[in-house]
Amino acid sequence: MSLELSAPPQSEPACADDGVWLECIDCGEQFAPFEEIHYTCADCDGLLEVRYADPPTFEAFEGSGVWRYNAALPFKRGVTLPEGDTPLHEVPRLREEIGVDSLRIKHEGMNPTGAFKDRGMTVGVAVAKELGVGRLACASTGNTSAALAAYGARGDMETLVLLPKGKVAAGKIAQASLHDARILEVDGNFDSCLDIVQELAGRGEVYLLNSLNPFRLEGQKTIGFEILEEHYEEYGEYPDRIVLPVGNAGNTAALYKAFRELVASGALEESEVPTLTGVQAEGAAPMVEAVRNNRDEIQRWDDVETRATAIRIGNPVNAPKALPGIYNTGGTAVAVSDDEITAAQRQLAETGVGVEPASAASVAGLRKLRASGEISADESVVCLTTGHLLKDPDEAFNAGGDPEPVPNDTDAVLEHINDSNETVAGRVAQQFSKVADSSAVPAIIGGGLGLAYLGYRVLRSDDA
Ligand code: F0G
Repeated sequence: MSLELSAPPQSEPACADDGVWLECIDCGEQFAPFEEIHYTCADCDGLLEVRYADPPTFEAFEGSGVWRYNAALPFKRGVTLPEGDTPLHEVPRLREEIGVDSLRIKHEGMNPTGAFKDRGMTVGVAVAKELGVGRLACASTGNTSAALAAYGARGDMETLVLLPKGKVAAGKIAQASLHDARILEVDGNFDSCLDIVQELAGRGEVYLLNSLNPFRLEGQKTIGFEILEEHYEEYGEYPDRIVLPVGNAGNTAALYKAFRELVASGALEESEVPTLTGVQAEGAAPMVEAVRNNRDEIQRWDDVETRATAIRIGNPVNAPKALPGIYNTGGTAVAVSDDEITAAQRQLAETGVGVEPASAASVAGLRKLRASGEISADESVVCLTTGHLLKDPDEAFNAGGDPEPVPNDTDAVLEHINDSNETVAGRVAQQFSKVADSSAVPAIIGGGLGLAYLGYRVLRSDDA
């Protein structure tokens, strides 16, 4: 089974353990899954994939959450909190405004630690236990560290996380800290944290649970199974397209793997596979650069910056698995600005769906590709939102409205509520002064659009 969508099932090699083995996506070398620790190929350093003798069918799935899909996982059950079974929200107002046939939001922020990472960790920590390793570790822009800390705690294992100093949202550090991970702040970006943790893992000091670890992606594959099943149940068909934020490109690789396995078993036609569409922030967009130039490899960006700190990544290690996923499903990739991300975060919040900035990139990307005509009006689309609003309270506060001070008196409160003119003017001024403190100010001064938008928001919320 190569990375082609049409690859047939493989026969089980001698090194397999109960129909499961590891295989290099570059040279095809095969390894026993649980005898020694492998992150990349011992021969050529290529990325490894978990392979199965029996690819899954929909009939094999039973139960709920990630472990419903154990027919497609290396174990029957893992260290669980439990995870998965996240909502597929309807957002009619947003759908109409963006202009697609159907739009659903798969809100992965509703997992136990508030991000999709839990799906990977329930499997990854189970594998760590099977291998009998001691200390678990990861580099992280925040969410992986929160999930590793929680699942490590649940599995009664020691955890160590390396974070880029000053670039991790408060909610995520709070989680890692309270779940008792040892937090090491590196004076560098995520990519340098990952370089270090890979070296520590290579020296046998830690067991690495970044998405470079092929078992993590097995758990994340279940996002793909869930979307297909839920969408089919509600619409009688699979979505045309899945739009998702891209950082290390693990999810893109994992969704594609889910689809390949279903195609291999005959459960899914090739023509039914959703088109994978990746979205990055403009300040950290090496995958978009590769896709837009039709390249098979990414070039590492050394300087990355975005308000969506979760995807502030310049060297997406899973690109060799994710790029074929985008190309072979007829997908694309697009970069969005921080202001477009914040606008999408607000719009999702106004429908009751609270997400962190990186998550909103998917909706911002859909909007942009719809406006450019690259996505057509007759498509059914699922946007993946990867993390919860509370992960990044500072950005949520910057994007949202301010509390209004009122006197400690009912009549005065009522007078304040009814004094709509003053409220509109005051709130617009407050919003503007808050945004003026942020990096959004050049865009607002440039076009005046931001202020117009804030005014529109306040007027609309006053209408409601
Ligand atoms: N969205 C959120 C909220 C994330 O935390 C991440 C990655 C992504 C999207 C990108 O996903 O790597 O599969 O393409 N966060 C990692 C972390 C890097 O350390 O928490 P990807």
